Amino acid sequence: MARRAAIAVSIALIASSALTACSTENPASGSAGAGGGDSDGKIVLGFAQVGAESGWRTANTKSVQEAAKKAGITLKFSDAQQKQENQIKAIRTFIQQKVDVIAFSPVVESGWDTVLKEAKDAGIPVILTDRAVDSKDTSLYKSFLGSDFVKEGKSAGEWLTAEYEGKDAPVNIVELQGTTGSAPANDRKAGFADVIKGDDKFKITASQTGDFTRAKGKEVMQAFLKSQKDIDVLYAHNDDMALGAIQAIEEAGKKPGTDIKIISVDGIKDAFVAMAAGKINVVVECNPLLGDQLMELTKKVAAGESVPARVETEEGVFPQDKAEAALPTRKY
Ligand code: AHR
Repeated sequence: MARRAAIAVSIALIASSALTACSTENPASGSAGAGGGDSDGKIVLGFAQVGAESGWRTANTKSVQEAAKKAGITLKFSDAQQKQENQIKAIRTFIQQKVDVIAFSPVVESGWDTVLKEAKDAGIPVILTDRAVDSKDTSLYKSFLGSDFVKEGKSAGEWLTAEYEGKDAPVNIVELQGTTGSAPANDRKAGFADVIKGDDKFKITASQTGDFTRAKGKEVMQAFLKSQKDIDVLYAHNDDMALGAIQAIEEAGKKPGTDIKIISVDGIKDAFVAMAAGKINVVVECNPLLGDQLMELTKKVAAGESVPARVETEEGVFPQDKAEAALPTRKY
């Protein structure tokens, strides 16, 4: 029994030092207590980020770190490198460290019930940010803060149907999906499919994951260009994959934006630059600047106040002719 207890203590110590090593800002000093703040009385927020897979994600991380500093909240930050098991480990460490609030952006939608129940049993409120989970038990988290990804997919589909209105020829579409099993990949796919399904001329001829990264976007697009004869449109679930695909299209001797129309999601500066150069046709915005709203929610849940179950961000759609004018005002 004593040996088992000693092993448990060592595991807890290893886990907690692994997390401290991941902390990038405001590492919590001293002990924290659920609801009690750190030794300075500041609220301690444990934030388990997805990774650093995209320009969007980098902007999101920066927004959270800056907002925590501004709000006087001690942030324990962990980067899961796009692996669910790392995120679960980070959440368990936050529970052991008795942080006041846990926020996380789930890598994938499923498989969270057990760890969320552990947080609930420890009395630590959880906020979902950016991505949702598919847990039936909504009492496992206090709020969701982020975008309506289905709406984003629908906006992408609506741009396409308007673009090809009155034209009869088949429109061959290839799709670069985000991370398999993630909420934005599932929802952006579903929203887009829902809009184009009413018209037979739209055909998704190939659809594969590019894991939301530039490198994979390029690699998968290279494969599409080899396997698909006539590609009219690329629908990329994020800008980084679209930017990687643009390289593949150019290397294949084709003109992105003209020979192959490109629809993308996010709205990072690099995508606006590519769009102003005629290489992307439309960008559906997804706002990563969630930091300030997350800190507001954190303060409220730490104080035991009630918060809305869902807080959605305002987003727009930017066709190519608006890119140049919008570029100087892009914040991420
Ligand atoms: O969850 C938001 C998505 O994740 C963004 O669209 C993508 O760029 C990121 O990696």
